Amino acid sequence: MSAVLQARGLAKRFGGGRPLPFAPPRPAIHALRGVDLDLASGETLGIVGESGCGKSTLARLLAGLDSPSEGTVEAGDGAVQYVFQDPAASLNPRLTVGRAIEAPLRHRLGLPAGERQRRLPELMEAVGLGPDALERYPHEFSGGQAQRIAVARALAAEPRTLVLDEPVSALDVSIQAQILKLLRGLQAERGLAYVFITHDLSVVETIADRIAVMYFGRVVEEAPARAIFAAPRHPYTRLLLDSAPVPGRRLAETQADAGELPDPANPPPGCAFASRCPRVQADCREHQPDLDAAGGGAHRAACFHPLG
Ligand SMILES: Nc1ncnc2c1ncn2[C@@H]1O[C@H](COP(=O)(O)OP(=O)(O)O)[C@@H](O)[C@H]1O
Ligand code: SF4
Ligand SMILES: [Mg+2]
Repeated sequence: MSAVLQARGLAKRFGGGRPLPFAPPRPAIHALRGVDLDLASGETLGIVGESGCGKSTLARLLAGLDSPSEGTVEAGDGAVQYVFQDPAASLNPRLTVGRAIEAPLRHRLGLPAGERQRRLPELMEAVGLGPDALERYPHEFSGGQAQRIAVARALAAEPRTLVLDEPVSALDVSIQAQILKLLRGLQAERGLAYVFITHDLSVVETIADRIAVMYFGRVVEEAPARAIFAAPRHPYTRLLLDSAPVPGRRLAETQADAGELPDPANPPPGCAFASRCPRVQADCREHQPDLDAAGGGAHRAACFHPLG
């Protein structure tokens, strides 16, 4: 399988510097602190982690919506499209659905008017909507329908990869299942690769081939989905699995001790999980563990004293 998306050494800092020439410098927020990712054609990489760990920052960098402070993202132009959590907010309320979806056909693909008019109903059909939807405005649709429209707009640019940032988190569980089914069908038909971001482990279990677990701006474990659930190696992944036994339950709600997260303006020199880790030893506080293959090459964990 060929790589459709490759990220190396991605770091992102927000802010920092002096708000005014003589004001004291403000510390930068370290949102991402060195992330490598490879995505193969047609595969789904799930990204999980609690609120604030850097998932959306990573998603925006992968989709080219923002530029990294350090590191590189490689993908073809337009090859990666982004689908937001809140579809209603991501669609312009003053444009009909047809106008919104026509924009990438015109600007990215440069298609003439006749060809655009032919593609629009095809795109609606691909996401399970009728051609009448093209004449309507975003507020006329339910959350699930609006997310279908957002997917259609992303598909219009003919990407090889969709970065889906919590695409079903705002939807009812029954609607979630329909959207996940749609995404699976589109993937099978079109050979799309997905970066699927969620804080809901039950969702990622149903859709991901491979899972990357994020903590405090870094990937701390990455493995085939089955291996993550059957035999996690990082103590943080263990904690996530132990604290999310109920389908649909959100990680954020289970993380009562999230207050122990390090300060993103002043990251610790060692492992960021040390203050919460039941396996912590002295070396953990001194050096940052790299994401290393432990045993089999496909299962990597950033931990000096991994489980299993
Ligand atoms: N535009 C921004 N300006 C300043 N800080 C930001 C900005 N976007 C995100 N952050 C910070 O970066 C960290 C990661 O945020 P985010 O990527 O949104 O996490 P997640 O999507 O996992 O909840 C958080 O500490 C957040 O407050
Ligand atoms: S490196 Fe140390 S503190 Fe960090 S997760 Fe592993 S055992 Fe825990
Ligand atoms: Mg987010």
